[in-house]
Amino acid sequence: MEIQENISLAPFNSFGIDVKARFYTKIHTVEELTEVCRAKKKWPLFILGGGSNMLLTKDIDAHVIHLRNKGISVVQDTDSYSIVEVAGGENWHELVLWSIENNLSGIENLALIPGSVGAAPIQNIGAYGVELKDSFVSCKVFDLSSNQEKVFSKEACEFAYRSSIFKTSAKGQYMIWSIQLKLFKPPHTLKTQYGDLSKTIEALYPNTPNFGLSELAHAVIHIRSLKLPDPKKLGNSGSFFKNPILDKKSFEAFILAWPEAPFYELGGDQYKVPAGWLIEKTGLKGRREGAVGVHSKQALVLVNYGGGSGQEVISLAKKVMDKVFKKFHITLEPEVNIIPEQQL
Ligand code: EPU
Repeated sequence: MEIQENISLAPFNSFGIDVKARFYTKIHTVEELTEVCRAKKKWPLFILGGGSNMLLTKDIDAHVIHLRNKGISVVQDTDSYSIVEVAGGENWHELVLWSIENNLSGIENLALIPGSVGAAPIQNIGAYGVELKDSFVSCKVFDLSSNQEKVFSKEACEFAYRSSIFKTSAKGQYMIWSIQLKLFKPPHTLKTQYGDLSKTIEALYPNTPNFGLSELAHAVIHIRSLKLPDPKKLGNSGSFFKNPILDKKSFEAFILAWPEAPFYELGGDQYKVPAGWLIEKTGLKGRREGAVGVHSKQALVLVNYGGGSGQEVISLAKKVMDKVFKKFHITLEPEVNIIPEQQL
């Protein structure tokens, strides 16, 4: 185990922001983690997973722990499902591919989401009508102040739309070491109804009797590749903002003024409005400001063309929020973790 000093984090965050970590260590085993926790004195620990849902705005004056533990194993097997335990340092998309190869369903709609398995519960990753919580059983974590191992059940994780206890009341307290998922054996129930997805499936697979897991994942990969920039080519953190949720009264006023707006009815008198649509209507889609910009194919994504700083992204995000508020009286909330935390 090597503790490095003053390391650039640019290769380790998908926005490609060049800030430095005071100390940086890759962790592969529990023994290494225990060693680092024991050695920690002056420097707080900062846990880095896939780095795909964060915006770094300044140097990290902490000991950055980069979780690289590996392993996928079936811990319980029945005729209808398997419980699979996956190390937090595994790549999420590779896990999705593994599940398809093993003919297990539940996470195929979450194909091509960048980032690590350990980061997936933090924001309850979701796409095309499926969220992590739908297949989540539990996770094993380390309490960073007591060095104790703990298991969080699905209920204890307090999952919500792009949120969990790890992003709210327990933020920064735990390292997610591994997760357990319940994945299903055939016959599979496939979720193909999400707007864009059903259209893509019709176009790519007309009259396909053997339509299954891998075709569904392929359709998801197809849509994502068209709309969402590949972080290896263009720095970004996926959706920068959450889709705002309106109550009945605000929604009725909104839809009266903008009858053509897309929306999703959530039940309980709540309505989700796509932030990408709102941003596009302000005219900011495709806008470039210096090294950063609003993505030209999906306005919900902010991008770093190269050499952009976290503060430049923040300024652009504020401009987007301001314009959306002025036009629609709707407040956008960032979906990415801004580090260090700041209110926009
Ligand atoms: N739209 C526009 N202009 C845009 C972008 C979107 O008019 O620039 C419209 C679309 O035409 C569509 C609606 O907004 O009618 C929704 O767009 P889309 O299906 O692309 O999804 P989204 O609501 O913008 C959410 C997630 C994505 C996820 C997709 C698919 C959030 C914050 N984002 O985006 O998640 O992939 O649905 O399920 O919920 C992420 O979290 O990083 C992410 C990419």
